[in-house]
Amino acid sequence: MEKSPELNNNQNLNSSLQREKWCGHELLYKFQNFWFPLAYLEATQKVLANFKPVPKDVILASFPKTGTTWLKALLHSIINRSPKQDYNNHPLISNRPHDLIPSLETKLYVDQENDSKKTEFLAVKNPEDVRILATHIPYQILGEVLNSCECKVVYVTRNPKDTLISLWHFVQKSHLFDEDPWELEVAVDQFCNGVVPFGPYYDHVLAYRQEFLKRPQKVFFVTYEEIKENPKHYVRKIGEFLGCPFEGENGEEEIEEIVRFCSFENLSNQEMNKSSELPIDFPMPYNSFFRKGEVGDHINYLEDEMIQKIDAVTKEKFHGSDFVYGV
Ligand code: A3P
Repeated sequence: MEKSPELNNNQNLNSSLQREKWCGHELLYKFQNFWFPLAYLEATQKVLANFKPVPKDVILASFPKTGTTWLKALLHSIINRSPKQDYNNHPLISNRPHDLIPSLETKLYVDQENDSKKTEFLAVKNPEDVRILATHIPYQILGEVLNSCECKVVYVTRNPKDTLISLWHFVQKSHLFDEDPWELEVAVDQFCNGVVPFGPYYDHVLAYRQEFLKRPQKVFFVTYEEIKENPKHYVRKIGEFLGCPFEGENGEEEIEEIVRFCSFENLSNQEMNKSSELPIDFPMPYNSFFRKGEVGDHINYLEDEMIQKIDAVTKEKFHGSDFVYGV
């Protein structure tokens, strides 16, 4: 089959990009100052060329391993309210969060056979319907697309040390890297240097945060730790931000149900999420998206020297940009 001119052009462009070995045999390609596995780079280029958000869209943006799965579940539940008695038939019992809220570059625009589900997700049938789509593409690259209409963006981030440890565990779940495991010391260095998928983490976070500071009506910025500490408060806030506030006498109860249903304990125990099967389009088993779900787990893995190394970068990048977070 002939490839489209757009794809051929990108392939020519990509073959000239700087590359770095990441783990296993995986290479990362540097595109507009961020690092991508090739498949996601090509998908990102397709997103840039073809994705047109509409004003009702809600885009969940995040760096990998910062709580994307959790926010997928929360956003879906906040936007599609279930009456309490319906929780036994909740869509998150029969669907995984990643199936309900697909990612632009890892699911919808990735090069695979045309599947009707993808077309369905991308079709805007009724302008009043809310589509929820996720992405790890940095704001520096996707900003123009996101600002092309009044869609809303919810960005979640997580402290850098827990993000790295979560990523490190995640990678270990893939048999792709069995022969050449990602040593923790190497992982720390690569994370600090930004050479991880969708990295540098710090630049990713700071650009979405800046956009939130500039346009809080467009971007909602929240940390994993903030939601962990006060989930009800943030479910309420997200509802308000998205224009679907929790009101009336049932409001408080609805919030409590959403928090309970989307908790790590509940979601990680759903049969769909416990499965060790591999999705057709992803090298990690379904259950790899649920590991421990705790704040501060890095302390169990990182040596003092590694912590100091990451903290030094965090202070320089985050604190130096007035974001006092992550140390
Ligand atoms: P840990 O590896 O620290 O356990 P992402 O969804 O962005 O890939 O992030 C995955 C991280 O979020 C993992 O962290 C995972 O356990 C955690 N997580 C998944 N579902 C969660 C939930 N409902 N509540 C809290 N954390 C959750």
